Amino acid sequence: FKLMLPLDIVIMAAGKGTRMKSRIPKVLHTLGGKPLLGHVIDTALSLRVRKIVLITGHEAEEVAAKGLQIFKEALQAFKDSSKNSKGAAPSTEFVCVLQSPQLGTGHAVQQALPQLLEDGLTMVLSGDVPLTSLQTLESLEQLARSNALALLTLTTPTPFGYGRVIRERTNDGKISPLDLTAHHDLNDLKNVDHTGKILGIVEEKDASEQQKRIREVYTGVLVAPTRLLSAWVNTLSNQNAQGEYYLTDVVSKAVAEQVAVNALSIDNPLEVMGVNSPAQLAELERAYQLRLANNLMSSGVRLKDPSRLDIRGELSAAQDVQIDVNCVFEGRVELEQFVEIGANCFIKNALIKSQAVIEANSHIQGQSADAPVVIGRASRVGPFARLRPGAVLGDEVHIGNFVEVKNSVLGAGTKANHLAYVGDALLGERVNFGAGSITANYDGANKHKTVIEDDVHVGSNSVLVAPLCVGAGGTVGAGSTLTKDTPPGALSITRAKQVSIENWKRPVKKAK
Ligand code: UD1
Ligand code: CA
Repeated sequence: FKLMLPLDIVIMAAGKGTRMKSRIPKVLHTLGGKPLLGHVIDTALSLRVRKIVLITGHEAEEVAAKGLQIFKEALQAFKDSSKNSKGAAPSTEFVCVLQSPQLGTGHAVQQALPQLLEDGLTMVLSGDVPLTSLQTLESLEQLARSNALALLTLTTPTPFGYGRVIRERTNDGKISPLDLTAHHDLNDLKNVDHTGKILGIVEEKDASEQQKRIREVYTGVLVAPTRLLSAWVNTLSNQNAQGEYYLTDVVSKAVAEQVAVNALSIDNPLEVMGVNSPAQLAELERAYQLRLANNLMSSGVRLKDPSRLDIRGELSAAQDVQIDVNCVFEGRVELEQFVEIGANCFIKNALIKSQAVIEANSHIQGQSADAPVVIGRASRVGPFARLRPGAVLGDEVHIGNFVEVKNSVLGAGTKANHLAYVGDALLGERVNFGAGSITANYDGANKHKTVIEDDVHVGSNSVLVAPLCVGAGGTVGAGSTLTKDTPPGALSITRAKQVSIENWKRPVKKAK
């Protein structure tokens, strides 16, 4: 029998983060382009949390302000995504609570208690631990539903610094964590016994030499019925090596009251790894990216090297997409079937339709997820192309090297293959925009529109001074500067007639 209790989540974020050596509060540093706190809030929302209580302390004002903003964005994104799939969006509440001074993790939870209704379950998370999986937390929540305290523990060969989980000895032939002797291989985690009854958690600084050898550690995540947790937390003492109010002391209190203490023991350290230093942040970033890369590959995307991919947003890629090395994706990017992305591309907010090829070193940047750059089916872009906000390419468009396109719509089959600028323009179908030609869209004060109708050929090195319309089927002679509209089918040319003076003698230097 499981009680259906509402879930509230306390996110701890009062700590200083000294080792980051940064002026930015730790939980606001980003992983995959999103603040660490954003990852935790996303997970909380997926758990259909009733209320999030964010504990702030160091840089409290900034963490609270940005935290609220992150929460609002996360909730909106969550609602948008669940619209497409299933279920109603949660009406989650978000509050910040100041913990000042910071007297320990138990003291932090004490500050949250006035915000928590006693009818629910409370889960404690840390704002700097971004990669705990939804599955793990759901399982942990279940373990607390039968009126129990549920602890997330990690079995690790490197327990240094963590609180150790103290269990009763068992005699089933396995090694109890309390019974580790030198002849056991301490790295063989398979022998760690998780069956003994949990008696308590001992912090590193309070642990005996023997306790320090225990390889099952507390991860900082727990769930308990709020009514019980609140009674325990209100009676904590700070009589310990650090003079802090330890949240972990609730375990021995539960044991004393004969409340069941359940542990969910995991062995993937990434799930519970916190960020304390730039090196750890980078390590988690790689792990996170590898997870995203593996997800892509399992849906049929071919990555030349999964360790050289960076997704700082949302990349959706259909089957048979190929991505070469060192590409960065930001915002929302959608790649349809058989799209190929060359090496070293930066792509932000873009919809790239099927069979389009983006050659190496191209830079594509749409305005926003809702106003992406669009690249039509079987188009070719790059190498070294730049597509800026508002670029919308039809099918089979070719954009070559050193071509910049901004706020312009290009019809099917149109080509700008070399060294060109197309800005604030509307190009029809099958237009050929010659090398070195530009739309002069800016008069120093205002931007103006250029219209180039179907089947126009713009010769090399032309300047089209907007506002301007080049009529359908027209040709612009190379090197022309157009300032007036041209009729359909016409050849328009503004350069001076060529003159050749025969037997021309170049001047020579006079002797001194
Ligand atoms: C805590 C646990 C330890 C566990 C470890 C996992 C306690 C007493 N110990 O260690 O058993 O192995 O986490 O990482 O709980 N924080 C506050 N206010 C405070 C103190 C901390 O908000 O007064 C926040 C920190 O910002 C951080 C989290 O709580 O997000 C954990 O604090 P930290 O100091 O990293 O953990 P420890 O106390 O060392
Ligand atoms: Ca501490």
